[in-house]
Amino acid sequence: MANSTIDSEGFVTVAKKKSVKTRRFLNNCPLTTHETESVELDTCLKNILKAKRDVESSSFFNSFITFLAGITKELDKSIAEIVCFGLGHISSCKAAQHQLGLLLLLEEQFHCPVEVFDPVFCSVEENVIKELKLKLSPTNCEGKRKPVLSGGCTLFFFPHCPKELSNNLLYTNWNPRHIEHCILYSNSFEKIRLDIPFRFLKSYHYLLQSQEIVEEVPVPNIFHFPDIFNDLSLHYFPSHLRSNVQSPFWESPEPNYPASETEIVGNG
Ligand SMILES: C[S@@+](CC[C@H](N)C(=O)[O-])C[C@H]1O[C@@H](n2cnc3c(N)ncnc32)[C@H](O)[C@@H]1O
Repeated sequence: MANSTIDSEGFVTVAKKKSVKTRRFLNNCPLTTHETESVELDTCLKNILKAKRDVESSSFFNSFITFLAGITKELDKSIAEIVCFGLGHISSCKAAQHQLGLLLLLEEQFHCPVEVFDPVFCSVEENVIKELKLKLSPTNCEGKRKPVLSGGCTLFFFPHCPKELSNNLLYTNWNPRHIEHCILYSNSFEKIRLDIPFRFLKSYHYLLQSQEIVEEVPVPNIFHFPDIFNDLSLHYFPSHLRSNVQSPFWESPEPNYPASETEIVGNG
């Protein structure tokens, strides 16, 4: 069994056999439920709206919208829905507040429903989501969520989330009819494939195989706080890549992750 400790930045250090250690980014705001409950709803909302203005006035936001517009133009689909996983503690965490700020700006831009889920939300944070008129998802789907199939596509927004979420999302939509309606804003698939040794990626079949069909657009990390939108990319699945693969490619066994390496919060 691996031993885990959480340091002051919210990184989990997993000590494996002997001195081998890996550092997993679990959540950069390790607050207890008790601490987050004590934060007032009004203060939270004020901080989130301030973060939203901060993102809105940034050249990062302009460049994000420009990249996204390029993708929707190429796919010839508008954004009909946004699904967000893993914002983290929006009551207290600067990264989560700015990411939520971006999400609110995208809602205004596309006038579409936005659904949000994070298993760490405390009741104040759930009330913040409701107060902002976003839909709080009642269930933990572990990333196994289908997109809208008519009237456009779904933007899945899950910055700095466990790679099981990406792999599960790909697994659930691993067929040409569903995947063409998905755009993902998440940790760069390319960076995951390059940074993590292959032996640790064996359970992530869909993340590995997606390189045949995915177009990845890195969104430059030009926001003034360097640790909020870093290492994130937009991913989509253009028809010329989808049509290159043969039918066995789309076979989709259910993923199964080694318990000692799993970062996702399951619904069990
Ligand atoms: C490393 S934190 C990222 C937080 C924030 N987005 C950031 O960039 O700092 C990963 C987040 O994924 C969330 N998470 C874990 N399992 C999840 C699940 N099944 N569905 C949605 N979010 C999940 C965690 O609760 C945590 O808030």
